[in-house]
This record gives sequence, structure tokens and C-alpha cells, in this order.
Amino acid sequence: MKILVTGGAGFIGSHTVVELQSAGYEVAVVDNLYNASPKVIGRLEAITGKKVPFYKVDIRDREGLTEVFEQEKPDAVIHFAGLKAVGESVRKPWEYYENNIGGTLVLTDVMRKCGCKNIIFSSSATVYGDPAFIPITEECPKGTCTNPYGWTKWMLEQILSDLHTADPEWNVVLLRYFNPIGAHKSGTIGENPNGIPNNLMPYITQVAVGKLEKLHVFGNDYDTHDGTGVRDYIHVVDLAKGHVCALKKLEPGSGLSIYNLGTGVGYSVLDIVNSFEEATGVKIPYVIDPRRAGDIAECYSSPEKAEKELGWKAENGIREMCEDAWRWQSMNPQGYGD
Ligand code: NAD
Ligand code: WQD
Repeated sequence: MKILVTGGAGFIGSHTVVELQSAGYEVAVVDNLYNASPKVIGRLEAITGKKVPFYKVDIRDREGLTEVFEQEKPDAVIHFAGLKAVGESVRKPWEYYENNIGGTLVLTDVMRKCGCKNIIFSSSATVYGDPAFIPITEECPKGTCTNPYGWTKWMLEQILSDLHTADPEWNVVLLRYFNPIGAHKSGTIGENPNGIPNNLMPYITQVAVGKLEKLHVFGNDYDTHDGTGVRDYIHVVDLAKGHVCALKKLEPGSGLSIYNLGTGVGYSVLDIVNSFEEATGVKIPYVIDPRRAGDIAECYSSPEKAEKELGWKAENGIREMCEDAWRWQSMNPQGYGD
């Protein structure tokens, strides 16, 4: 079975390529390298010992994408390609809607014209908004998003569900990720944010490596055990394996499936700081700042449905997440360095 991975040079996509190849799947990667390094492909090949066919193509480029489909003839698509910076999406909503929604519309049109109607989509816990209940199960209603990025995920879930309703030949898996962190054990691939990181773990690792002075903790007056925000952090390799398990939901007649991919455990910002210090021996100085606009107090999953139906469960704990994030950052202080 051959899988086309859009956004396969990015953080989660690259780790998923490793797990797909290790599980015996053939892959091809499409990425416009807007937020990824061309070096990733060579590093993937070094990890798996297999060739990774790569196309520098934008998913909005209908002709280019059609050529890839004609060349590779994939059986299924795992669709990671998209813009993902929450704050930037508030400043550039048009760009986010055009890239994420426009891109997915072109992709799915090319897919159906080429007879490939199997897709796994990178969605996000952000679609739950401020969740109606915790732990969040898949039955929790979708909520009100606080930024255009979140709305693109919300709307794309609807669009892909409607495609399946209109044409049951479509098999669609919506995977709602919680907070992916960590890196491959080799330390050769990992998260490579542009500029100052928005997310907690890359910010911490950049403090640890000396690129940033101290962590700014956004609020300590939430209704949580220590007042700082609680999230469900998941090791990116576990997340990647979740995609391999989700492929079984693309069998003919599977229809529409939705899964949370998280660990079911919530850690606060200060829990993460402490775990990082324990796992690495590196001290993380921090200050308490005001709350960040749009943040919620608490968000963690019930991962039971994925375990029951996909046979998938996250294996790595917070220590491994911290160790592996640190190995990547300390081996690559400048990321991919380009
Ligand atoms: P990433 O930015 O590292 O990867 C996305 C990749 O898509 C990049 O390599 C980028 O160059 C590529 N891309 C963007 N627009 C493209 C286009 N028009 N054509 C072709 N390639 C394009 O991000 P990531 O963290 O690996 O996230 C992967 C997916 O998972 C995204 O859809 C993201 O929204 C989603 N997601 C991420 C998180 C997270 O916290 N990282 C959480 C939930 C969901
Ligand atoms: C985690 C916690 C912050 C940075 C975001 C997106 C979400 C999803 C994952 C894609 C919060 C606190 C953070 C810092 C801090 N992405 N924090 N200082 O906000 O849960 O989720 O990424 O879908 O859509 O919104 O992740 O890593 O930004 O924050 O105190 O410098 O760390 O307030 O409590 P978040 P995060």
C-alpha cells in the first residue's frame, strides 16, 4: 500500500514517514517547504535506510499535484500540509483560509479525479474550543474556536465529512491531536520553529540551549492544581504511530471516523518545567506573565476510543518527551540550520 504524505517534511509528517516505512508502507512526500527544511528528506532516509520519494509541490498547485498522483498512484493520503501558527493566523486570516482550506479543496479534488478517496486528516483538539467536559471524548461537541487557524480545522472537518456523506466511497479519518512534543530518538529530526517559538516545549528547549533567556509562563491564576495551564502532551513518535494504526480505518466501507490522539494525562506548565529539569539536569529560569489571549485553563483527552478501535495507545511518558526534545535541540541548536 502506498501513502502520499502531504506536509511530510514538517514536524509531525517527518516522524510519520519514519513509522510508515518501518511498518512496511511505501511512501511519497509532497511539501512546498514553506515551513520545512530540504535536509529532512536525507535525514529520513538515513533513519529508515529507504528512499523517500519527494516532490517540492504546493498542494494548491493543481497541475503539479495531479502529476504527483499520476506518477505515484497512492492508495491513501495522510494530509499534514497546512499553516499552523495560531497568532499569525489572527494577523493573516486570508492566508490561513486560502492555504489550509483552499489547499485541501484542491487536494481532495485531485484525489477524487485520480480515484483515491482515502484520507487521514490532521485535525486538532482546538476544534473543541473551551471544552464542554474533561477528559474530552470524541462525543464532546465541537466548540467556538478563538482564532482563524482553529476555524480552518473546524471547517475542514466539516468539509471532509460532507464529502463522505455525498459520496460514501470516501473513507475519512479525522485525527484530533492534543499537544505533540518530543522528537525521534536519533535526535536527527524534530520541531524546527521559525523565529521565537509560540509553543511551550520548543520555547523551553531554546531557553535550555541558551538561545532565549527565560521562559514566560502565561498566567498562574487558572483553576488548575498550580494555577498554570494544563495540557495533554503527547510524544510525536506515539502520534506518528497513531497514523499507522488509523490506516486500518481506510478499508472499503469504513466511512467517517474521528479519534483523539492524546495520552489522557494533563500536565501544567510548571509540571513541564519540573519534568524537563529532572529529565535533563538543565535549569529553566522563568517569570510569570499575564495570561495569553485565547488560552484555556485545561485541555486533556480521553484516548479510550483510539485504544479500543485502533489498538493504539501512547507509550512514552513525560520524561521521554523531555529527554527526546532536548536531544534534538542540543544536537541541533540551530534546528536544521538553513
Ligand atoms: P509543520 O509546519 O512542521 O508541517 C506542516 C508542513 O506542511 C510543513 O512542512 C509545510 O512546509 C507544509 N505546507 C504548508 N502549506 C503547504 C502547501 N500549501 N503545500 C504543500 N506543503 C505545505 O507542522 P506540524 O506541527 O508538523 O503539523 C502538521 C499538521 O498537524 C498541520 O496540519 C497542523 O495544523 C496539524 N496539527 C499540529 C499540531 C501541533 O501542535 N504541532 C497540533 C494539532 C494539529
Ligand atoms: C501550552 C501551555 C500556554 C508558551 C497550541 C494550539 C493548538 C495546537 C497545539 C495545533 C499553555 C503555556 C506556552 C510559552 C507558556 N496546535 N505557554 N509560555 O496553546 O495548548 O496549543 O498548539 O493545532 O491549536 O493552540 O500549546 O504549547 O502554545 O501552550 O506559558 O511561552 O503552555 O499558556 O498553557 P496550546 P502551547
